[in-house]
Amino acid sequence: MDQKLSRRQFGALAAPLALAIAAGRGAGISLAQDAETTILAPTPACGDADDFAETLAQTEGPYFTPNSPERMSLLDEGMPGTKLVVTGYVYSTDCTPVEGALVDFWHCDDAGVYDNAGYTLRGHQFTDAAGRYELTTIMPGVYTGRTRHIHVKAQKPESDVLTSQLYFPDEPQNESDGIFDPSLVMDLSDAEDGDGKVGFFTFVLV
Ligand SMILES: [Fe+2]
Repeated sequence: MDQKLSRRQFGALAAPLALAIAAGRGAGISLAQDAETTILAPTPACGDADDFAETLAQTEGPYFTPNSPERMSLLDEGMPGTKLVVTGYVYSTDCTPVEGALVDFWHCDDAGVYDNAGYTLRGHQFTDAAGRYELTTIMPGVYTGRTRHIHVKAQKPESDVLTSQLYFPDEPQNESDGIFDPSLVMDLSDAEDGDGKVGFFTFVLV
């Protein structure tokens, strides 16, 4: 099947097959209670050609600093801003989670300023056996000319580096940002403990 097939096309052509496969696995599908809305959109699952397309690459921008510290939390004592925890997975385009994948994040502070002298709000980590990462940080601020974003590099062991950016839903500047792409918007909700936001994004690497 054409990997570029859109979710809509995929659904129209192959939904019955995909659902049968998903049901057979017992995962990745939800059935609506309302008979008029027979099926809810499946969560990302193997077999969905659109969700397992390679994550879009984007420009590194001018503020990358190599050799960031290895850490899962970028929070510093007294750092202003709204807490943000971003979790997700690194998958291969062949639908397998990637253990030991590098994810390196950097973003500006609450006031929209990058630390270009040190490593504030910069850090890398490696995915666990399930391919999962977890980044604890703050919501990046917004600076002139860009919508709210987090820069990232992701790399499977012994593979090429993907450079990209993550975006936030419902940001007023998303529409006017020249490189914003909806495929890079994380799922975002309020943290259950009331302290900030929780994001979710899965990277798919070749
Ligand atoms: Fe930036």
